[in-house]
Amino acid sequence: MTLKNKNAVITGGASGIGLATVTLFAEHGVNVVFADIDEQAGSELERKLTGDGFNVKFALSDVTDEDAVKQLFSLAGTIDILVNNVGIEIATPFHQMETAEWNRLLQVNLTSMFLCSKYAIQQMMKTDAASSIINVSSVSGTVAWPGIAAYNTTKGGVMMLTKSLAADYAKYNISVNCVCPSIVDTPMTDKSIGEENLEAIKREKARLVPLNRMCKPGDVANAILFLASEQAAFITGTPLMVDGGYTAV
Ligand SMILES: NC(=O)c1ccc[n+]([C@@H]2O[C@H](COP(=O)([O-])OP(=O)(O)OC[C@H]3O[C@@H](n4cnc5c(N)ncnc54)[C@H](O)[C@@H]3O)[C@@H](O)[C@H]2O)c1
Repeated sequence: MTLKNKNAVITGGASGIGLATVTLFAEHGVNVVFADIDEQAGSELERKLTGDGFNVKFALSDVTDEDAVKQLFSLAGTIDILVNNVGIEIATPFHQMETAEWNRLLQVNLTSMFLCSKYAIQQMMKTDAASSIINVSSVSGTVAWPGIAAYNTTKGGVMMLTKSLAADYAKYNISVNCVCPSIVDTPMTDKSIGEENLEAIKREKARLVPLNRMCKPGDVANAILFLASEQAAFITGTPLMVDGGYTAV
């Protein structure tokens, strides 16, 4: 993949899919600034990767806060790639969900992408060079996962944000795509399943996938890397399923 010396901002980079993406991008010679609210995990990852000789900076930044996002993009300077990865799940049954929980989901899963995309696009529009935005949606943006209607709704929103920005900014040579993973083996998934029978439930979920395993963070990072690379230059507005065949059957 041709990515060496590109500059990227990755949100939610301290854990799970974000951590795998930060690491993979760094290994491919990308200069990475990653944002997260987890100071300890973010600093540890920065220390590890800079120790390995990579150009990686951690920004302690809540990407739902516009002032923090402005600061993040002024720290990052000119960027070629934005990965909007931050997301949370709140699994309260829909009829019992508090308005505050609904608003929080929208804020973290969608408003963060609005803010980061807005400030990234302002910079990307200043150059004719190709740049790209990759959003992390989910298979649940296309098929409804039971019990998490509000989360599914945000992920459907991410897909439409992706297509709309792809249409509006193609003339500035900015491509916008999203990845749609099935259940990924990350801390978010462990938290959502809970400690009781965790491994058995994971095995059960893996059996629903034609390729017969859970998605790994690295599977998603590989797809994001491809969409950010010059090899994906003619791809925009596309949701790329990373689901082991889950939505094919
Ligand atoms: N885990 C899955 O099964 C799965 C499946 C499909 C899609 N996704 C999506 O993938 C993305 C990453 O999920 P994950 O499983 O790696 O999650 P994770 O919880 O392991 O990591 C998310 C990271 O985002 C950070 N974060 C949360 N809110 C933030 C904020 N406001 N500002 C900055 N950082 C913040 C967290 O501190 C954490 O480091 C999410 O958008 C999620 O919806 C996950």
